[in-house]
Amino acid sequence: MSFKNKIIAIGGGKGGVGKSVICANMAVTLALTGQRVLLVDADFGASSLHALLGIRSPKYGFREYFDHSGLDSNGEEVLLLDTGIPNLKFLSGAGDMPGSADINTKNQNKVISYIRSLDADHILMDLGPGTNFHIIDYFNIGGENIVVSTPEMTSIMKSFSFIKAALFRRISQEFKSSSDLQHLIDLSKNPGMAEDCFEIGSLRKKVEEMHPQQLERVNEIIRGFQPGLVINRVRRQKDILMGDNLLKLAKKYLDVDVKFLGYLIESDHVRDSIDEMRPFLIEDPQSKPSENIQQIISSLTHTNIHLVKKDDSIYVSQQIKLSSGWSQ
Ligand SMILES: Nc1ncnc2c1ncn2[C@@H]1O[C@H](COP(=O)(O)OP(=O)(O)O)[C@@H](O)[C@H]1O
Ligand SMILES: [Mg+2]
Repeated sequence: MSFKNKIIAIGGGKGGVGKSVICANMAVTLALTGQRVLLVDADFGASSLHALLGIRSPKYGFREYFDHSGLDSNGEEVLLLDTGIPNLKFLSGAGDMPGSADINTKNQNKVISYIRSLDADHILMDLGPGTNFHIIDYFNIGGENIVVSTPEMTSIMKSFSFIKAALFRRISQEFKSSSDLQHLIDLSKNPGMAEDCFEIGSLRKKVEEMHPQQLERVNEIIRGFQPGLVINRVRRQKDILMGDNLLKLAKKYLDVDVKFLGYLIESDHVRDSIDEMRPFLIEDPQSKPSENIQQIISSLTHTNIHLVKKDDSIYVSQQIKLSSGWSQ
């Protein structure tokens, strides 16, 4: 089983919404189905993903990559750490050194090409919070883009801003050489720009006036961007429906089709698993939160995945292909 695009980026404007917890458990699920999975901690300022996997202090991380291209004194590749879970390797964001969140553009491009070059069936990237270009650019290298939000309207609004930032960055990067279009799209180049340019209808109108031949390319970028949404910390049915607000906002103001992938309930299993530094998927693949994660993976891969634990080992009891969205 493989996706059309092997890199899955998990982001969302807000910190503390559960990106890392969801990313780690999704990676574990995919690894348990027999896929070779690499989990990348790209929250360089405050990486903590290793703790969710039970790794107290990662021996190597991106710092080694910048200093020694990720090789030890014998020239051996050392960045891809073992997790103790078959098929799952981990690449650490390397600690919370002051300044590590401010990777310069040259290094950022190096990291992006490195991640792209890695050999795995799936590469899951856990991003930091915020909407600065560093974060957005990592998000946009994903062939699958997942936004995590909690049901609160403030979180939904942040997720909307995140999707908007990702879309406009895609358009801006595509038209790098066209300075008048850049001025229209990129607030950092034109601080006085009118707010309404961030509404896709107005942007299309302006592009049509200035560069009508580019309009179709803009439309292609919009059509090609179909982020997925996961709602976390769900306590009641109503919480899941909050996701509809984001789908509607994204369609109305950005013409972006957001796919609802599933949700994760608010649960002590999740909290306990963090305290115990052990993914809840490993603890009990049939708990409610574990089933939620399998449902998210099922939506993403168009398969019906079902894991069971027997005699302390975890098995795939069901993996039914639902459509031709992936190949064996
Ligand atoms: N579904 C959940 N149920 C209970 N607690 C959760 C859940 N999801 C997240 N949390 C809590 O929120 C905290 C932040 O989650 P984390 O994945 O680190 O967020 P992010 O990566 O978005 O900053 C976790 O340490 C945990 O205490
Ligand atoms: Mg995180």
